[in-house]
Amino acid sequence: MTSGCSLILDLQEEHINIQSKRTDGASLTWSEVNNMPYTNKVINETLRRATILPWFSRKAAQDFEIDGYKIKKGWSINLDVVSIHHDPEVFPDPEKFDPSRFDAPVKSFSFLGSGSGPRMCPGINLARLEICVFIHHLVIRYKWKPLDKDDSVQPTLVRMP
Ligand code: HEM
Repeated sequence: MTSGCSLILDLQEEHINIQSKRTDGASLTWSEVNNMPYTNKVINETLRRATILPWFSRKAAQDFEIDGYKIKKGWSINLDVVSIHHDPEVFPDPEKFDPSRFDAPVKSFSFLGSGSGPRMCPGINLARLEICVFIHHLVIRYKWKPLDKDDSVQPTLVRMP
């Protein structure tokens, strides 16, 4: 379990370590941005809980059967990514924000924050780079303290028509 407080401390530790190895005035380097394992777990857990694309739409290219359901060629299929991201068998206590879920690789196709397969997001590395740079400066330049005892995360899902 990760409380909001310990999450900030763990994030701070990762970023202060990076900063402390830097010589005066140096900017964040490419290798530093590519070596932020805890930050990447926080990003994954954020994309799991606050799934940006709540479902993926596909059109069946051929007849097929899955779990006993017969799908016909041409049917529209909606993959409910929010439910996949909150499957308690893969993510125990799924409402809890806990980056340590990503300490080990998760079951295939259980985490679809950036999609999967041929339509996977081509911009995800750019997005991660920007988020890592943003979090680095956010964490090391400001002091953080909890204002509320309730540190649970309640994402607002963006529902599209
Ligand atoms: C945190 C940021 C981002 C998230 C969570 C995200 C998520 C996703 C997901 C889940 C898909 C797959 C949709 C599907 O399978 O139907 C997707 C597709 C796509 N994303 Fe991203 N994305 C992000 C940032 C970006 C950025 C920065 C770019 C461009 C610079 C980008 C460009 C695209 C494009 C063009 C597709 C369509 C790919 C295709 O259909 O072949 N995304 N994104």
